[in-house]
Amino acid sequence: IIDSSQSSEEKDAALINELPSALFWDAMEIRKWKGFWFEPGLIKCAMKFSSSFQAGNDDVLLASAPKTGTTWLKALCLCILHQNHNIPENEDLLTQDNPQFHVQTIESSIYSTKPTPDLYSTPSPRLLHTHLPFNLLPNSIMNSNCKIVCVARNPKDTLVSLWHFFNSIFRGNQEPYPLEKAVDEFCTGVHQYGPYFENVLGYWSESQKRTEKILFLKYEEMIKDPKEQVRKLGLFLGKPFEKEEDLEKIVWRCSLERLRNLEVNKNGSVIYGVPNGSYFRKGIVGDWKNYLNLEMEDRINQTTLLKFKDSGLEF
Ligand code: A3P
Repeated sequence: IIDSSQSSEEKDAALINELPSALFWDAMEIRKWKGFWFEPGLIKCAMKFSSSFQAGNDDVLLASAPKTGTTWLKALCLCILHQNHNIPENEDLLTQDNPQFHVQTIESSIYSTKPTPDLYSTPSPRLLHTHLPFNLLPNSIMNSNCKIVCVARNPKDTLVSLWHFFNSIFRGNQEPYPLEKAVDEFCTGVHQYGPYFENVLGYWSESQKRTEKILFLKYEEMIKDPKEQVRKLGLFLGKPFEKEEDLEKIVWRCSLERLRNLEVNKNGSVIYGVPNGSYFRKGIVGDWKNYLNLEMEDRINQTTLLKFKDSGLEF
């Protein structure tokens, strides 16, 4: 029940309490807000972000559904926008903290293990990230010249990556969460930040209409030809690579192999309960073949066909 004497925070909390709820991974309550499922703490932050964030003209917003290559994209954009190509190893920001720390996911920065810088006092160009779907972005993002870079990934690999990630967080030494249930929840969209399909489609459709505003990258293309995709990224961000060796340096600096072996990623945590190392697993295309049976494969394929029908989006 919403009462008129309540503060806006109390009103948000009351509204969240009335939203449909479900249990994610047998461990965490999620609620459905504006067509998508989130843990309630995220909804609270997302509401504030959606209603009050003022984008700057030179802001760069990274957007991705979870487990589609967020950490990689954060590392690459950090290097392109905030780092000289020739800095020595010990000054490389990536050796000092995980990319998730340097580029905060706006709606989940409340879960940071370290104090996070105030969004409004961060020097420009500000580099931000969100897992929120396109329709929940603040109006100022679309009405300013702020650019958006989105990364997306084959749904079957995304699901398998998600399954490993949440198993490591919620199941510890227990049996993994039943994969059939994870597939079912992925296909029905009842999972943290789900439905995945609509999340990706929102950015895809907009990227087709406004190519100067949104760059849509695919994880598979980045794996296949990282240099070409990073070249495209530099150009889009207004930082074209003049020397081939600079491009090669960034590709190496942000590679899974290098990041996973950095001391800072072997220990420590940027988000409570999430070890830095859990952001780096195999990083290959087609790993789903090692996990999904025919029935699961078919279920995800059918859902993908149905959801992406006529959109032109393919993986
Ligand atoms: P896998 O679980 O398939 O290995 P996110 O960063 O959105 O959470 O996505 C995590 C996925 O990206 C994981 O995929 C992880 O291994 C992969 N990844 C992380 N850093 C990467 C990098 N630098 N290059 C390529 N893939 C990377």
